[in-house]
Amino acid sequence: MAVLTNDEITKIRTSVDIVDIIGEYIPLTKKGRNFFGICPFHEENTPSMSVSKEKQIYKCFGCGASGNVITFVMSYEKMSFPEAIYKLATKAGIAIKDKISLKGPDNRYESLFNIYNISTKYYQNNINTTKGTHGKNYLLTRQLTDDIINEFQIGLALDKKDQLTTLLLKKGFTPKELITSGLTNQNHDKLNDVFINRIMFPLWDINGRVVGYSGRYYFDQDIAKYINTKETPIFKKGLLLYNYHRALPVARQTNTIIIVEGFMDVIRCYSIGIKNVVALMGTSITKEQAFLIKKMASKVILCFDGDEAGARATLSGGNELLKYQITPLVIRLEEEFDPDDYITTKGETKFRKKLDNPLSLLDFKFAYYRLNKDFSNSDDITKYINEVLEALVDIQDDIKQELILSKLSDEFKISLPTLKEQLLKSPNKPKESPLEVPMVTKRKGIDKYLKAEKRLLYYMLKSAEVTRLFTINGVYLPTNEARLLANEIIYYIKHEGVINSADFITYLNDKSDLIKLVGEVVMQPLKEEYSLEEINDYIKVINDYNIQKEIDRLMNLINQEVDIDKKVAYAEALRQLKVKE
Ligand code: UTP
Ligand code: MN
Repeated sequence: MAVLTNDEITKIRTSVDIVDIIGEYIPLTKKGRNFFGICPFHEENTPSMSVSKEKQIYKCFGCGASGNVITFVMSYEKMSFPEAIYKLATKAGIAIKDKISLKGPDNRYESLFNIYNISTKYYQNNINTTKGTHGKNYLLTRQLTDDIINEFQIGLALDKKDQLTTLLLKKGFTPKELITSGLTNQNHDKLNDVFINRIMFPLWDINGRVVGYSGRYYFDQDIAKYINTKETPIFKKGLLLYNYHRALPVARQTNTIIIVEGFMDVIRCYSIGIKNVVALMGTSITKEQAFLIKKMASKVILCFDGDEAGARATLSGGNELLKYQITPLVIRLEEEFDPDDYITTKGETKFRKKLDNPLSLLDFKFAYYRLNKDFSNSDDITKYINEVLEALVDIQDDIKQELILSKLSDEFKISLPTLKEQLLKSPNKPKESPLEVPMVTKRKGIDKYLKAEKRLLYYMLKSAEVTRLFTINGVYLPTNEARLLANEIIYYIKHEGVINSADFITYLNDKSDLIKLVGEVVMQPLKEEYSLEEINDYIKVINDYNIQKEIDRLMNLINQEVDIDKKVAYAEALRQLKVKE
């Protein structure tokens, strides 16, 4: 990394705006001078991540996460420093490819990516050989065109036990690498392919690199239909959405993303020109996937399989998304269809019509709860009403709530006040979350020095002049962390001449506790200008505190000391201190 100078790093940092970049990951709303969003670094429902445009710093008042645009990309994307710099430079249109070294630990998975690259080409090639006719025919009967097969890089694993393994060994990969990749099994001394006789659907990470496969067996009904690559360092199923990289631009453009269960559904939609579709691939929605979805578009449509399992997945997926402030719309297909079957049997037009008329999640829930209930049975009615009330708790819209309650009241002849009362009792009722108080000290008198410390650091981080005053006065900050930070600031200014908190964070590198403290300090709602009087005031508060502490200590010693000479010495020290006070 030494190849990039500090100035170059600063140039990259300042050529992007932290608000734009973080805004690509999480929705931000402007409130006063800062922007706020749901912090991606801890579980929360109300936004406590604050992003400052002027300071180019973020800080979460919930978990304390803090930093500049580079540390954000590093933490969010789990990237190394050079990788994050590279990503930001690319966004800013700054060419640094030759200057930056992505070797060493940052490229530790390169061989895995290479293995996937090569195997994908190999599998793709198999399709067009004589031995691949079977597989090719299967794909044709499933109405997949050559274009689609190419676009989705669909391939074929043949019937030989170790064909891919042999090829990769010949290319120089080690057995260990092959086993790590999840493409090779070790059976005693023999190395065998994991995938045999399967249609190979590559799975891509969010950057579009192949990182795994789902292999479909296409001869026999009796063995597992799909097998997936095991989790590897580069493949974590819960971290990706099938087709994310292809769907992202279209989703952004249309502000709509359609979520389906299986990748065949994605491929089918794509083949009729509906490209803003991603698949969960048979798992329930993870937090990471919810964030990916949130990044893509604000209109989210769940279009799962028509069967009961699909309905249940819609309900639980919908509720999961609600936790991240995503209120999805819902498409339900008839019992026997998944989107793929629906399009191939009923046709594109009918499917598009479905897409144009989604249900709200709430209406879906009501319809779902009605299923298999007998409304001449009072237990079923009670159950239904309670389910509806529970769903209503999540609704922020008072008018809508009222409307639904009065519908319920009409239908089941239960008074509105009774329903409202019951709604308030609902176990889901979100607790009024107390507003997070950003580090304003509550015990005024005692914590006065703490406040002075933080304010002093605030101005030291803005001005070399304040830092000089700090040094000249020999200020000793009582809090350990604060003292460490002050030392770093002094050192930084000595070398750089000036200071800017966002660049200072880059310099702090992996001292994450200090970076947190910088965030706390910088995000104090203080004015930009300072007067020397003010600064001297803070210094005085801190000095007074130190003196008082020393007085307390000496008093203690005097009280406990039996040796009279020592007692006198302590008393003299005390007298001198009191003069200073
Ligand atoms: P489905 O069983 O709905 O598959 O599983 P599908 O998309 O309709 O596939 P076809 O049409 O039968 O070929 C949905 C998703 O769940 C995962 C796959 O990712 C699939 O796309 N799955 C399913 C597995 O991982 N393993 C299985 O055995 C089955
Ligand atoms: Mn299917």
